[in-house]
Amino acid sequence: MSGAQVAILTVILLLETATAGVPLQRYEALLKQQSAPTDEQLGLYDENDKVVQLSVGNFNESVLEQNHGSLVEFYNTYCGHCRRFAPIYKQVAEQLHSWQDVVIVGAIDCAAEENNGICRTYEVMGYPTLRYMGPGFQPSAKNYGQDLKSQDPAEIRGLLASILVADNLTSSNNNTYWPNFHYVTENDSSSTIFEGLSSQREFVALVYEPENSTVGIETALFLLQWPSLQVRRVSDLAAASKFKIDPTSHQLSIVDRKGEITPYTPAEQTGPAFSETIQTALRKKNITPRPEKAEIQHAPVAAIGEKAEHNAILEEVHRHKHFVYQADLEQAIRTVLHNEVPKVNEIGGERLLALQRFLGVLQRYNPLGFNGHQLLSKLKDYVVQFNQELTGKQFEQELQRLEGQLGPIYSSTHFVGCTGSSPHLRGFSCSLWTLFHFMTVQAAENEDSQDPLEVLQAMHGYIKNFFGCSECADHFQAMASRRKIWSVPNKEEAVLWLWAAHNEVNQRLAGDDTEDPQFPKIQFPSEKSCSQCYRTPGSTSDNIEINWNKDAVLSFLKNINNPQFVSRYGVQQEDLLHATAEKMRQKRQISNVFSDIDMRMGMLLYAFCIVMMVVAFKLFAFKGYRKKPYGHDLLGKV
Ligand SMILES: Cc1cc2nc3c(=O)[nH]c(=O)nc-3n(C[C@H](O)[C@H](O)[C@H](O)COP(=O)(O)OP(=O)(O)OC[C@H]3O[C@@H](n4cnc5c(N)ncnc54)[C@H](O)[C@@H]3O)c2cc1C
Ligand SMILES: *[C@@H]1O[C@H](CO)[C@@H](O)[C@H](O)[C@H]1NC(C)=O
Ligand SMILES: *[C@@H]1O[C@H](CO)[C@@H](O)[C@H](O)[C@H]1NC(C)=O
Ligand SMILES: *[C@@H]1O[C@H](CO)[C@@H](O)[C@H](O)[C@H]1NC(C)=O
Ligand SMILES: *[C@@H]1O[C@H](CO)[C@@H](O)[C@H](O)[C@H]1NC(C)=O
Ligand SMILES: *[C@@H]1O[C@H](CO)[C@@H](O)[C@H](O)[C@H]1NC(C)=O
Repeated sequence: MSGAQVAILTVILLLETATAGVPLQRYEALLKQQSAPTDEQLGLYDENDKVVQLSVGNFNESVLEQNHGSLVEFYNTYCGHCRRFAPIYKQVAEQLHSWQDVVIVGAIDCAAEENNGICRTYEVMGYPTLRYMGPGFQPSAKNYGQDLKSQDPAEIRGLLASILVADNLTSSNNNTYWPNFHYVTENDSSSTIFEGLSSQREFVALVYEPENSTVGIETALFLLQWPSLQVRRVSDLAAASKFKIDPTSHQLSIVDRKGEITPYTPAEQTGPAFSETIQTALRKKNITPRPEKAEIQHAPVAAIGEKAEHNAILEEVHRHKHFVYQADLEQAIRTVLHNEVPKVNEIGGERLLALQRFLGVLQRYNPLGFNGHQLLSKLKDYVVQFNQELTGKQFEQELQRLEGQLGPIYSSTHFVGCTGSSPHLRGFSCSLWTLFHFMTVQAAENEDSQDPLEVLQAMHGYIKNFFGCSECADHFQAMASRRKIWSVPNKEEAVLWLWAAHNEVNQRLAGDDTEDPQFPKIQFPSEKSCSQCYRTPGSTSDNIEINWNKDAVLSFLKNINNPQFVSRYGVQQEDLLHATAEKMRQKRQISNVFSDIDMRMGMLLYAFCIVMMVVAFKLFAFKGYRKKPYGHDLLGKV
């Protein structure tokens, strides 16, 4: 990349940022009411789903010491895998809604700071995690529920059914809806199976359940709403034949109190199909289910002003596609400190080392103002004194103490460049990338350390040990060793390593369900943002590999991550940010564009102006001159 290109890019960035530091009036007012980026409205489930929304406020009363069991999903709003799984889990909840007297289907957002304590206590190590807690459940060091390792609805249903039955065949838990899960034996007859049943039960359905199947359990649970029926399982062939069941033709029969036995053939060997067959048979006898409990209607949350402000941010971000925003960098740091680290129960060994390293680079290369620097120094000093183990709770308490003591830390409370077109898109993982890019650039521009791996190693350790997107962490580690992260030779290559790695992720995720349609995953930077980064113009539209000009890419990344050019749009407490940067910004905004860039830049600009004058002269003299309105167009021709 030539000096002239660097210079003109700089000028363009300067001009664009000059207008970008101004916060929006109405947005500012809105920001004041909101304390943290992760409020409950951001969760993946809402009132329209059958998923019970759990939080610190209702977790104990919904899950502990109940006469029903609970299936709980621990998730993170920002984890892509959780987002992909959410529609599946909604289906599970919808289908298992009729099981609710025996087991409820709930979810808790571990990305909401208020839930830190629960997610930490339950030692959730990956997201999403599905756990079953039985009736009478009390958490204890040995028991935080039983993991269900599946993300397939039918499999989840089956696993849940078998876990539920394993210990609790009968209602030892004072739940009148609990089915009788004991098998019918050869000694049972069409009269003994009604023994002990209330007179309300007019029918008993017998379901043939082969070994390792849960079809009988599921059928019983699907039919909890039918008070005139009891469902029983039968696996013994002799017992089955007594009730006209033949595993190869009639896997189901219904017995009435008169002793009449009617066999049926369900369409499929599944709980839903069996339950469907039984319901049809009962309806023919004019039997109906219990009326559904009236559900509480939630008033939709009004958000009138909010929408307009959201749109204003989106417009700003679309105007400046490649900008790095102060607000995003701050939200990344805030989420790391307030949410991701405190959520880990025990921080020892490799984890502790990773945290110490990460706080080390964060302290050196963070974009926060004076208070923020103080906080990170003290927090690092605190964590460094531990050499065995620190708990997430201790970390959280120290963080709160220091933040209280050092006063306001963050100048903004919301994402800007990482705002998604809908609330569940983008956000934290976007800001984390942004923060890492920012730090690799600061390290390259700073002489304090010559270690090329300083930031990359800290980042690698952080992602492996703390990043709440487990799937991302796995992918990232595999990619890091494939791309030989430990052989990066210098700090500039570290900037480029991260850029290339991020582009690989972008490529893999392009078109994914988690992609924000307004922010498609592209190879960064786009040709529009940096035409000189492309050696072959137009290569993004063809399906060929981009021939990057890596020098130009490096300059581009250094420019957008230059603290002077980081946009302060959406910042509402500018006074918290560095005075020096602020002074420079004001100077720049007033008039003299040249005074705040260093001599080298000035020289380049000077040289560039001369070149441009020569070019302009030639254009006028030989070809005529057509005015180009935008800097980017001009840049494209250089
Ligand atoms: C380490 C890591 C690994 C991840 N792995 C996965 C995964 O395996 N599966 C999954 O579903 N999600 C993964 N994610 C999340 C995913 O990469 C995105 O962060 C998320 O989908 C949000 O995307 P986004 O559109 O906001 O842009 P992001 O990809 O998050 O990018 C944020 C911003 O960085 C800039 N940018 C984009 N590309 C580059 C680049 N190459 N160099 C410099 N700046 C760039 C852009 O301005 C962009 O807006 C991972 C995130 C991280 C931090
Ligand atoms: C919930 O229960 C746990 C374990 O019994 C207890 O430690 C915690 O304080 C309870 N939380 C609330 C909010 O009641
Ligand atoms: C079965 O129920 C009892 C309480 O009645 C409870 O203590 C136990 O945890 C339950 N077991 C399972 C697996 O649900
Ligand atoms: C079942 O629970 C109800 C209400 O919680 C209680 O009144 C009743 O005594 C309990 N019955 C048994 C058998 O525990
Ligand atoms: C059936 O009854 C007989 C005699 O009472 C008894 O020996 C046998 O164990 C019973 N079988 C089952 C499966 O309960
Ligand atoms: C049931 O599962 C057990 C354990 O997984 C296995 O050994 C057995 O063969 C299975 N039985 C059938 C009929 O599939």
